[in-house]
Amino acid sequence: MAFPPSGLSSTAAMANLIVFLICLSSRTSNNLAFYFEGVSVAEAETVSREVFPMDGDLAWVVQISDLHISAYHPERADDLVRLLAPALRVVRPALLLVTGDITDAKNRRRTSSRQDESEWIQYKNSMDAVVKHSGIEKRRIFDIQGNHDKYGVPFVGSSLDFFSTHSISSQFNRLGTIQSISLEGGDRKYLFLGIDDTMSVGIRGPSNLFGHPTDERIAAAVTELKTLDEHLKSSVTKLVFGHFPMSFTASSAQGERYETAFAKQSISAYICGHLHATFGKQLWRLHTVSFPSDSMKPKRATQFWEWELGDWKDYRFIRILAIDQGEVSFLDLELNPSEKFQSSMLITYPTDSRINNRAVDHDKHLRNDINVLVFSVQEMVNVTAKIFDSRRDFCLVEEITMQPAPNYSINKPLFHAKWNPENYRSVSAHRYWLQVFAFDSEGEMITSIRRPFSVEGRAAHFSPTWLAYLIFYLQWENIYSILLWSNICFLVLLLSLPKLLTHLMKRNASYQNWAASTEGRNLLFNVFWFLIEGSRNTKLWAAMVTFLLYLLMFPWFWGRATSEDGEISEMYLSGWRMEASTDGGTLGVPDLMTITLPFMYFVVTPLFLAVYGLSAEMSAICLRLSRTTERSDLQALLVSGQNGAHLGWHVEKTRSLVCKRLRGWSWALLLICAVIVCSHSKLASGTMSAYGTRPVALSPAVSLVPLLLLVAAVYSMMTKSLRP
Ligand SMILES: *[C@@H]1O[C@H](CO)[C@@H](O)[C@H](O)[C@H]1NC(C)=O
Ligand SMILES: *[C@@H]1O[C@H](CO)[C@@H](O)[C@H](O)[C@H]1NC(C)=O
Repeated sequence: MAFPPSGLSSTAAMANLIVFLICLSSRTSNNLAFYFEGVSVAEAETVSREVFPMDGDLAWVVQISDLHISAYHPERADDLVRLLAPALRVVRPALLLVTGDITDAKNRRRTSSRQDESEWIQYKNSMDAVVKHSGIEKRRIFDIQGNHDKYGVPFVGSSLDFFSTHSISSQFNRLGTIQSISLEGGDRKYLFLGIDDTMSVGIRGPSNLFGHPTDERIAAAVTELKTLDEHLKSSVTKLVFGHFPMSFTASSAQGERYETAFAKQSISAYICGHLHATFGKQLWRLHTVSFPSDSMKPKRATQFWEWELGDWKDYRFIRILAIDQGEVSFLDLELNPSEKFQSSMLITYPTDSRINNRAVDHDKHLRNDINVLVFSVQEMVNVTAKIFDSRRDFCLVEEITMQPAPNYSINKPLFHAKWNPENYRSVSAHRYWLQVFAFDSEGEMITSIRRPFSVEGRAAHFSPTWLAYLIFYLQWENIYSILLWSNICFLVLLLSLPKLLTHLMKRNASYQNWAASTEGRNLLFNVFWFLIEGSRNTKLWAAMVTFLLYLLMFPWFWGRATSEDGEISEMYLSGWRMEASTDGGTLGVPDLMTITLPFMYFVVTPLFLAVYGLSAEMSAICLRLSRTTERSDLQALLVSGQNGAHLGWHVEKTRSLVCKRLRGWSWALLLICAVIVCSHSKLASGTMSAYGTRPVALSPAVSLVPLLLLVAAVYSMMTKSLRP
């Protein structure tokens, strides 16, 4: 079979493509810089501050997250009154923190997102009822926004910004992006810093997924965390709460991240929501940040914890978090929908060594107390702490009777005991385990969780599950760039490599010999065949190159990015280009990964491979056909001796045989094409319902081009291979 010269044009095109891509990548990063600056300039960071007195040095708060109050699921709001209010009446927390995704803001089929005022009214009314039935002071409730609360809110203060009118924070005029709440006791102060990192321009889902801090906000948070150290003689324990986990928080324009800031300001923990309980109920992560040594200070590493809380939406999770003389401990409870609040216990000291981050100090005076908070409607008859030794098959080592603490009251259900911690010094943070048992006046036994402790403050190893690791430990902003650009590189290679190979091999006959011979047909040969024959249809090849360039440079589609009747914006690979963002910058990176990655991986890549496959298949059919014909011609000539009629019959027979043999592959390719069409239509229809049917449907790049390319490839294979 002859190989037509590939022509200079395709080589030149390839060179152009590479130069072009280099230019493009630098352009994209410039765009990103513009975008971030644009947003940060427009936004002023404000801090709302509240101070509450604290009795003694023990305080506890309750956190709930991801309520997703929905017009289609009224039970989520009803259960706030039915389950949360009784829980709060027993627990009596100093604060109630609502960490985002207050409303669901989705339509019935959850295909499109928009703000629904009725959901906010439901929230407001439910919280009013919670206040009434639980006895918690309303000003002790702090709510911040999550991404769902920002879907389709074009700007802060717009008529769709219901957080500014219906939230509890709005009722107390606490609309700053940073909430600073401190509990002040005699010689201690506990600070809770709430940060709202939702997008300033609320793009609709699914491309609104990440927290977007600005440099100003990070600076303001640092200032707030620092001020306390300078102005207070008492010791301060700092916790930060927000909606987005660090793995779903983007870097600021200057590349700043919270991790460094938090570690520098030695916060104890960052608590958040966002990931629900879908990926695990213990999304815990110890962040270790090391600071380079300079002439003044030696190199040091600081740690803080990040604890995600499961959702209210499906699991009715609440978290009770206590700080006892600066030591943080917590308990996540799934409220049982069919029962009243189950009595529970939280050991506030010694803390669970699996969530310790205190520096080990061997010379330090060890605390000689055990403290447990018992939350129950019943009175306690007796409370006993039991210590077990895991090295000796968890045998009971010591039993300590606990007494109500000196200031015991219904407001402070604290039980307390003295012990000798020296007995429990151990190099292992897993060795000794503690569990508390209590009997109430009805003879009911309540137990705490049995967990390890370390009197010296050693940290036990906490190993995440692989799913938790994937979702909570990896920085998704970086993963997105890697996934996207590796895919684009692959496609560029797929398009350019065969042209290069053809160019090189045109000069020697080895490939042609190789292809013509039946010897040496191995995997490598098949790959070569696939690439070279696949790219031989110049029209299709050029169409694919153009399509890839288009995706890199031009808008993917037009759509209503914010509200349902808002402005029509363009989505590029580099983000949404909106008028609201100054400098003509783009918004929503890396949030649009939910659109770009599936499209690149499940439509564009398989599409290009299928087009190659179809062309290669076509060549294979032609080659086999011609070869079998030649051979059978020869045989026929030998057998029949110039009998023309007999020869014709013989050729027809082999041809039909060949067609039968090759049908398997062709069908497989056609099936793959059908799968691509399905995944494309699924993605396209998802995008249409999210950003408006008409603008998206009329955008050629995502809706039409993939189908046209596929049809063209199938058509050209069919016509060429069926031609006699
Ligand atoms: C008990 O209450 C008093 C006054 O309210 C306070 O000074 C003291 O520190 C409290 N004791 C404990 C152990 O919390
Ligand atoms: C605690 O009270 C329960 C029920 O009244 C009793 O059975 C148990 O023995 C008591 N435990 C201790 C350690 O006193």
